[in-house]
Amino acid sequence: MKNRAILFTLFLLYVMVPASSRGVGHHKHTNRCPEAENIVKFVVEKAMNDTPGIGAGLIRLLFHDCFVGGCDGSVLLDPSDRNPEPEKIAAKNLGLRGFEVIDEAKRLLEIFCPHVVSCADILAFAARDAAEILNGARYNVSAGRLDGKVSSAAEAEKNLPPPTFNLEELQDLFVNKKNLTTEDLVVLSGAHTIGRSHCSSFTKRLNPNIDPTLDQEFAINTLQPLCPPYANADGVAHLDYATPVELDSQYYKNVLDRKTVFFSDWSLLTSNETRDLVVQYATKPGDWEADFAVSMAKLSTLDVITDRKKGEIRRCCRSVNY
Ligand code: HEM
Repeated sequence: MKNRAILFTLFLLYVMVPASSRGVGHHKHTNRCPEAENIVKFVVEKAMNDTPGIGAGLIRLLFHDCFVGGCDGSVLLDPSDRNPEPEKIAAKNLGLRGFEVIDEAKRLLEIFCPHVVSCADILAFAARDAAEILNGARYNVSAGRLDGKVSSAAEAEKNLPPPTFNLEELQDLFVNKKNLTTEDLVVLSGAHTIGRSHCSSFTKRLNPNIDPTLDQEFAINTLQPLCPPYANADGVAHLDYATPVELDSQYYKNVLDRKTVFFSDWSLLTSNETRDLVVQYATKPGDWEADFAVSMAKLSTLDVITDRKKGEIRRCCRSVNY
């Protein structure tokens, strides 16, 4: 019954949306699955209505996919007999969420146009849609990524930044290793204007002596109550304490006020170039929003696989095709 309702809604979408405005993929999908992007957006919208916070999860999921072996859907693979330690189980992937959203989009796409749209493309579209639904600027994501067959927890540990990184370490990763710019680093860090962190990702900054790079009053009154040392479970805190569910430039004001949870956020203040950008985004409305769309589009194209010998279109996003 639920499936029939979803399919009927998608059919209506297909009939009502003019062909000229269906999707923005530059090839492949537009010919062989013109509704691909509309289907993904439909699923993302529903998931974000049902589960607030899942939009932030999708944006982080794209970052963690693209930084480890490129945007190839490798973060989506489950442990299996052949590969018991995929990226997903890495400690740096703690708290990743949104996998079910990709599964649902894939399920519908396999009904509408089987074996055409890769999981890597679905994730790139889903992150873009999540940003747009959270009031971010829409950007074009071209289609044609293939799904990778390799996924390694050790590679995830090596390629993802810990929250303890200083600016030099962040720049080495983003600029030297991933071919992005320092500006991309500052802009993309602004994704920490939404979503949550587990206490375990930052409690070392609270105990025993509060880190001087963190505002004392914020640490004591806002963070410590969320993360009491005697708690059994790993609590969570908003990444942006002031406007936690809005994709806005508030993050940069928080950085200037030393009211962000990670040392890596604070470290953006430690060079003139990055500090100037933080000040610009904190004070000039609209600048960050425009630049975020550009940097996200760039992130979505990192080391994409298009060679059929190296990649495939998975039937299920959680396992490679055997
Ligand atoms: C610059 C280096 C970065 C570091 C050190 C970092 C680190 C982290 C950590 C530790 C968490 C919390 C994980 C947890 O405890 O649950 C987190 C959450 C998050 N990160 Fe980053 N991150 C970085 C860059 C980025 C980038 C480039 C993006 C996206 C473009 C991003 C998007 C997010 C989002 C949206 C969340 C919240 C996820 C949720 O609510 O499920 N981060 N990040």
